[in-house]
Amino acid sequence: MTDEELEAKIKALTFWGSKKSMSIEDIVMVQPGLAQIMPEIGARTWKLFYAAKAGNWPMAKFQYKEIKGLMELGAFMRPKHEDALNQYVAEDWKPLEASIEAKDFAAFEKAFHHSIDQANAYHDLKEKPYIRWKLPDSPPPDLDLAPRGAKK
Ligand code: HEM
Repeated sequence: MTDEELEAKIKALTFWGSKKSMSIEDIVMVQPGLAQIMPEIGARTWKLFYAAKAGNWPMAKFQYKEIKGLMELGAFMRPKHEDALNQYVAEDWKPLEASIEAKDFAAFEKAFHHSIDQANAYHDLKEKPYIRWKLPDSPPPDLDLAPRGAKK
């Protein structure tokens, strides 16, 4: 069998996932794009800021890393945005790491606001000037961000 014949056979196969049968092409098509990944980045960025503000540095570090992973996933899923996302991670996201490691909220806050200004500049660059992420005024309601062991 040639590679082309094998590919045609694989494409013709469908896989049952208990609710629906899908081909490999269907499975590839339903993977998350930036429309799914970006709102999650926004929600975690909100958690990141207020975790750092509360002095919950392990949580801040966790959210920082999850966001970095989501940016990398976005770059992998959408080659059109790969260069911009990788550049953003290296130049605008990475600088937050030092302030998190140093548990320095003043340095973190400065770097954070800069990284958000840069994110919105990328939204402009990607012809989406109507997308301007902004930090909500209060902490996310679904997580207790007080450091473990701290007084409530
Ligand atoms: C921490 C940094 C960032 C945050 C918090 C953020 C936040 C968001 C949010 C919340 C949305 C969805 C808006 C909505 O539909 O409700 C969005 C969309 C988008 N963002 Fe970002 N963003 C960030 C960085 C970036 C960067 C660096 C790029 C560079 C490519 C980018 C490109 C996009 C694009 C292309 C969309 C539209 C996705 C679509 O619906 O097709 N973002 N962003």
